[in-house]
Amino acid sequence: MAMIEVNGATFTYPGNKTPALRDVSFEVQVGTWLAIVGHNGSGKSTLARLIDGLLPLGTGTITVDGLPVTVANLTAIHQRVAFVFQNPDNQFVGTTVADDVAFGLENQRLDRNEMQARVNQALKEVNMLEFADREPAQLSGGQKQRVALAGALALHPQVLIVDEATAMLDPEGKDQIMKLLTRLHNEGKLTILSITHDTREAALADQMIMIDGGQLVANGDPKKLLADKKLMEDHQLTPTFLVALKDELASQGVTGLDDVTTEDEMVTWIWQKLNSTK
Ligand SMILES: Nc1ncnc2c1ncn2[C@@H]1O[C@H](COP(=O)(O)OP(=O)(O)OP(=O)(O)O)[C@@H](O)[C@H]1O
Ligand SMILES: [Mg+2]
Repeated sequence: MAMIEVNGATFTYPGNKTPALRDVSFEVQVGTWLAIVGHNGSGKSTLARLIDGLLPLGTGTITVDGLPVTVANLTAIHQRVAFVFQNPDNQFVGTTVADDVAFGLENQRLDRNEMQARVNQALKEVNMLEFADREPAQLSGGQKQRVALAGALALHPQVLIVDEATAMLDPEGKDQIMKLLTRLHNEGKLTILSITHDTREAALADQMIMIDGGQLVANGDPKKLLADKKLMEDHQLTPTFLVALKDELASQGVTGLDDVTTEDEMVTWIWQKLNSTK
């Protein structure tokens, strides 16, 4: 079943001549992890805001869980979709980290204990429980990003949209978020839309769409699309380390790499090669 259906979505910011998004169509099935990639200014955040009803669609239609994204349905849409924004500074409202995570829950009429439990659980998931009583302003960029993610998770959404969640993190922080997304994804029904410049993160997704100049230029299996050198170059995207390494080895005449599709498989492959040449 489709969780999100986007049909001919077009949107122009007031005062702009050219649309930020032009005739974009795709579907995301329930439980799918979709990566949205594209270079700066291609329209990724605009697309995410349209799906969450934060911007009014020009032409076309978008549905979430079968509901058209319209002003009349906004409450219902926001019960289903949680959004982690690109710049976490714009979304802090609480005086402490825990308050902040609780804030989004206030409309949900939960009792105090349930609310507390959800806040703690969400902070634990992003490894920030020990910061519960801190002021958000005292946190590093990466910590803010994780608290913002906790705020979204506490809502128990059906759809989680994360806009560049790992952009401000160091490699270790990045790995933590990627592991968290992977775990949430493996647990079941959550549909994840992650906007990312990080092709390694995109490689973890089930489906990938690529946007350039507001238009959808590719939609398919991330591993296939990321390995398409021409497509990546044409749209100014950096290949993954794995794809670059495979390319380099192929250009040196090394064969037998066709079945290697992950970094782990590459490690195994190299290991076997080394052992067989002993
Ligand atoms: N509030 C706004 N008002 C006017 N134009 C905007 C606004 N926000 C974005 N744009 C324009 O719309 C286009 C798409 O922007 P958008 O933020 O969706 O891109 P993006 O792919 O998310 O980029 P980035 O990777 O830098 O976050 C750009 O040309 C941008 O300048
Ligand atoms: Mg953006």
